[in-house]
Amino acid sequence: MMKHEPLLTSFREAGQGHVFAYFDELSPDAQQTLLAQAAEVDLAEIGRLTRTLLAKDAVAGVNVEGLQPAPYESRPEQGGDVAQWAEAKAVGEAALRAGRVAAFTVAGGQGTRLGYDGPKGTFPVTPLKRKPLFQIFAEKILAAGKRYGRPLHWFIMTSHQNHAATEAFLAEHDYFGLERARVHCFRQGRMPAVGFDGKILLETKGTIALSPDGHGGSLRALARSGALDLMEREGIDTLSYFQVDNPLVRCIDPAFVGWHLRRGSEMSSKMVPKAYPEEKVGHFCVQHGRLVVIEYSDLPMALQRETDARGNLRYPAGSIALHVIDREFVRRMASGGEGVALPFHRADKKIATIDATGTPVKPEKANGVKFEMFVFDALPFAKNPVVIETLRANDFSPVKNAEGADSPKTCRDDQLRQFARWLKANGADVAVDATGLPAATIEVSPLFGYDEDSFADAWARLEPKPAVAEGLYLG
Ligand code: UTP
Repeated sequence: MMKHEPLLTSFREAGQGHVFAYFDELSPDAQQTLLAQAAEVDLAEIGRLTRTLLAKDAVAGVNVEGLQPAPYESRPEQGGDVAQWAEAKAVGEAALRAGRVAAFTVAGGQGTRLGYDGPKGTFPVTPLKRKPLFQIFAEKILAAGKRYGRPLHWFIMTSHQNHAATEAFLAEHDYFGLERARVHCFRQGRMPAVGFDGKILLETKGTIALSPDGHGGSLRALARSGALDLMEREGIDTLSYFQVDNPLVRCIDPAFVGWHLRRGSEMSSKMVPKAYPEEKVGHFCVQHGRLVVIEYSDLPMALQRETDARGNLRYPAGSIALHVIDREFVRRMASGGEGVALPFHRADKKIATIDATGTPVKPEKANGVKFEMFVFDALPFAKNPVVIETLRANDFSPVKNAEGADSPKTCRDDQLRQFARWLKANGADVAVDATGLPAATIEVSPLFGYDEDSFADAWARLEPKPAVAEGLYLG
């Protein structure tokens, strides 16, 4: 039985005694659950966030003073230095052959917009075989391990909500061919939601309204879970970070890893030129000599639309949430030492809670605040950060919404276009429309080819070459 008096006292002293208002009514088991949840809460942190983010005079938004566009390495096709790109790729390949790189998926989000029942990674996305997102990543990681002769470790950050289901799904599918000992799921942290008065909200009489602490929580979670120590033991110093909702991603990209390592960067990023001025992406900028990502909601529209003398956008660099991160940088950020902690952001939300009589209520409008950290807020702390350009068609087509933009439909079409491009680049006859969408439903397994290079090699070896017809699967 957990001793509860000290915990109750600290909550009372922090003005959060109401969390235990129904404690005496709870069963012993329920009491234990509440105590365990309460022990997770950092009261000093909540107090600080209430004073800074909830105070009436809290400054909303971001200070854009001194903002400049961030420099980035253009792709060779866009005038980038061909020799430097080739060298970067060679350095990245050497790192992969030396086993220095691991894959890292953040999969702790709630996926509310998609509205799918289950961990998002279990959502089926491929055009023909309906492979789930986790399978695509697993197969890309497996194939890259084979290509470079060193099997890769895969770290997956889950949430309390989806951890068990994620582990069960991966186990049920035998880790999609990966070695079980190289797949590591760990939970991210949680933060309590608070009312606009800073009081911690209860979800029920015996549970606190807790939610994941944002993808930025991944840095703390990597340290806390022992993932960093495992990496160190295994000689891994570089993490390839990507999100769970993006099957197009080159999750193991030697050129990206190489640019990062050559520059001695602690955290590197990929950018895509914004599709149109108002596109809702974060913007890579430099402020007072540091690389920052400014969210579209924080960058004044005039700056989003600003053009240079040649009519090009002055802030073209959109963030697509792809990073290469140095292990010891994560450790430093996670240690939360003086001045290195990630900031929290406030999001006003409808939070299921209880009313004054203890009855559960689902509010009609925002009734409180969730606190989240964003991983890109680590960039200003990173030494020598590099931003490289990538082609959206090769790296980014997320499944965010059930319909419309960034939906299963747009993602399926983008996968089809990618498969068609690979085939056409290698001389196959593929009928496509003006947008590059093939007439036939085709699918390339990552085990066959997971990027242009691996596809080209596999296609060259394939005899006889199949005709591109409805239902072609290259596996
Ligand atoms: P999103 O910002 O798309 O959020 O996450 P979401 O929670 O998945 O979806 P919505 O907004 O509720 O519809 C981007 C990536 O960051 C991960 C997600 O799993 C996704 O890969 N993420 C987000 C976490 O791992 N933890 C979090 O707390 C939030």
